[in-house]
Amino acid sequence: MSTAVIILAAGQGSRMKSDLPKVLHKIAGAPMLWHTMQRAQQIEAEKTVVVVGHGGELAEKSAMEFDAEASVVWQSEQNGTGHAVQQAADVLNGFDGDAFVLYGDTPFVQPETLEKMRAARKDNAVVVLGFEAETPGGYGRLVMDGDQLDAIVEAKDCTAEQAAISFCNSGVICAPAPLLFSLLGDVGNENANGEYYLTDIVGIARARGLACTAISCDEAETMGVNSRLDLARAEAVFQGNARMEAMENGVTLTAPDTVHFAFDTHIGRDAIIEPNVFFGPAVTIESGATIRAFSHLEGCHVARDCQVGPYARLRPGAELDLGAKVGNFVEIKAAQIDAGAKINHLSYVGDARVGEQSNIGAGTIFCNYDGVNKHHTEIGKRVFVGSNSALVAPISIADDGFIATGSVVTNDVEEGALAIARTRQVNKPGLGIRMMDRLRAAKAARNSK
Ligand code: UD1
Ligand code: MG
Repeated sequence: MSTAVIILAAGQGSRMKSDLPKVLHKIAGAPMLWHTMQRAQQIEAEKTVVVVGHGGELAEKSAMEFDAEASVVWQSEQNGTGHAVQQAADVLNGFDGDAFVLYGDTPFVQPETLEKMRAARKDNAVVVLGFEAETPGGYGRLVMDGDQLDAIVEAKDCTAEQAAISFCNSGVICAPAPLLFSLLGDVGNENANGEYYLTDIVGIARARGLACTAISCDEAETMGVNSRLDLARAEAVFQGNARMEAMENGVTLTAPDTVHFAFDTHIGRDAIIEPNVFFGPAVTIESGATIRAFSHLEGCHVARDCQVGPYARLRPGAELDLGAKVGNFVEIKAAQIDAGAKINHLSYVGDARVGEQSNIGAGTIFCNYDGVNKHHTEIGKRVFVGSNSALVAPISIADDGFIATGSVVTNDVEEGALAIARTRQVNKPGLGIRMMDRLRAAKAARNSK
């Protein structure tokens, strides 16, 4: 059975007090919207439809960035969740599989939970995801009759008896797409908010004699984000889960609470992550690599048995091959570091390739930028670059080249050559001590005044 996912993301999120649409605020380095779009991928949905409204241009751009195949539809006025879902009708015209409705601001609903709902669809026309709410407050109440869901009643429209129900609506609903839109056709707006409630489809389906049920999940999965505080809490939940998952997969985290993951961090087994390491988006760490304390990585790939840090910075496009070493206060950007190469101290390596077994000495700077353009540096195999050298790109140093320490290298260096590019040292006999004597005498004269 094919599946479509409709993601509601038109709401303003006024409690965020932000110019950014709520669903674009980030959790683990990715817009909240992407977390929900990822669910659609995980349950192998053929179609994803994102309903945008407030800040819709930005939301649309972000949705496309995550999945260029997704459809974006507009809800220019926010007349309720039912009205929002209806905006997807045209895009899903002719689609006869199941449709899930998810919220763009509820990032933690698990794919396994959606699978359970899909299974329950066999015997039911409409399946709703519910949870036992600690504080039912403003949630819609699920009115059950045994296994059958009779109705969802919004908090504002509840009788006292209904208000006492603690089994609440998460907002996630699954039904065959044609039925969903047919039921929505019967939804009116005569309620406390004057809105078209998606939740009304349950009562309407029951009146048509259709079976409806609710699957329940943990309240934590249904956590929504409405404020900056919620955002911080959601981040903490994500990080907690990511740390657990990494450890379960065989990664050592010396101080788990201090490691920050992105939504798409991949770490192989037997990797060791020391305290206070930050992973930005798009990082892959292979088995057996060690990331030492206080390192910051984003958009990079670290192969097996590499050592990174402490205090290293790997920026987008840093590619470390087997067993490469990157030490303290080294920054690497858009550079391929081949197997066994070492850059151990205080260096900047940008727009470059460093060949196998080469050694880049302390304080080496790859001068990749002339103020207007970026240029490439090519370093061959087994090259030795002495400390405190500046390599002015574009430049290449062939295999087995040797750069004398303190050189400013502006010309290519051929295979096996030694390049020295600094002024020659001059020693003046006795001048050192004479200078010190003169300085001391001048200071004494000043102090005696
Ligand atoms: C909704 C449910 C309620 C459930 C609760 C769970 C309805 C009528 N009520 O209430 O039963 O317990 O969620 O959190 O469905 N949205 C749009 N367009 C709109 C209105 C909303 O895109 O016109 C989006 C919002 O951005 C949000 C989601 O739909 O992501 C839910 O809307 P919200 O206003 O938070 O609904 P609740 O009143 O919380
Ligand atoms: Mg809400």
